[in-house]
Amino acid sequence: MFNDQKVSFSGVQPSGNLTIGNYLGALRNFSTYSEAYKTFYCVVDGHAITVRQVPADLRRRTYETLALYMACGLDPNKNTLYVQSHVHEHAELSWILNCFTMFGELSRMTQFKDKSAKHADNINAGLFTYPVLMAADILLYQTDVVPVGIDQKQHVELARDIATRFNAVFPDTFTIPEPVVAKSGMKIMSLADPTKKMSKSDENVNAVVYILDDRDTIIRKFKRAVTDSDTCVRYAEGKDGINNLMSIYSCFTGKTNEEIEREFEGKGYGDFKAAVGEVCADALAPVQEKFNAFLSDKAQLEAQMKKGAEEASYYARRTLSKVQKKIGFVQVK
Ligand code: TYM
Repeated sequence: MFNDQKVSFSGVQPSGNLTIGNYLGALRNFSTYSEAYKTFYCVVDGHAITVRQVPADLRRRTYETLALYMACGLDPNKNTLYVQSHVHEHAELSWILNCFTMFGELSRMTQFKDKSAKHADNINAGLFTYPVLMAADILLYQTDVVPVGIDQKQHVELARDIATRFNAVFPDTFTIPEPVVAKSGMKIMSLADPTKKMSKSDENVNAVVYILDDRDTIIRKFKRAVTDSDTCVRYAEGKDGINNLMSIYSCFTGKTNEEIEREFEGKGYGDFKAAVGEVCADALAPVQEKFNAFLSDKAQLEAQMKKGAEEASYYARRTLSKVQKKIGFVQVK
């Protein structure tokens, strides 16, 4: 809460091409808060480097992620849109919070366990303390709500624990944030292995539908989606592939599972997969059109980055200097 206004904060890593998982689980929900809340949406380049990045790709994706924020309906005049590395307070608060976070807590983070298994040759300290930087992102803005997919809920809960621990020693420092996980779209699964989360870093491009895939590619990928040997479109335990397609269809159409089952009664998986592809391509077409327009004006994107960083810094400075004072750092004006 800042000046009696509730705050929404979230972030997306510019570490790969964004997927419909990112869109349905997070991005498209951000604008829900634009009117009534003070909103901060950040491109978290600091988090991205916990895994090796090609510098030119990281740079390009940072612009692209900002353009996608805007294409998903985030007006930079109503939302503070910025890049994490442009606001140095994130790194500074992160260090302080490291001293309020336990080794055991970080060891229990499932994303750390998954990523260290996947990048066994590069289990760096940044990968381990990643959730602390995320806590700093959130707590710097006295955040009330954090709209995220289910995979990030554990990290937001850790941010709550860190804030509660800090407040117990230094009362009234941080607002305790709440993760907000959308009911539909919280966990979109891979099209090639529906027991696995759809991830922008998946090496199999057919497992993932990217927000910027063209219409034919989207339709082709859904046609190839792994399902089961049943033929009837119904939501049931063990039918992970169909369940996933039904939840994607539901996200784009607003229909319930019962309505979807009725709509496809007597039809096969082929018809259903084609329909999922169509609604997905239809929904993404206007986003892609806006994205291309925003991306074509790099100077304008840089001006937005600068404006966003100035706005964010104002709030970040206030929280950081409050924290520094409380813990006993000398402040010289
Ligand atoms: P990232 O970049 O992996 O993903 C961005 C957002 O997309 C959601 N998401 C999904 N939702 C549904 N189904 C999926 N398959 C799927 N894949 C990704 C994620 O849950 C996330 O909300 N650590 C964060 C970025 C971050 C952050 C923050 C988020 C850094 N600081 C502060 C919130 C607040 C991450 O890696 O997200």
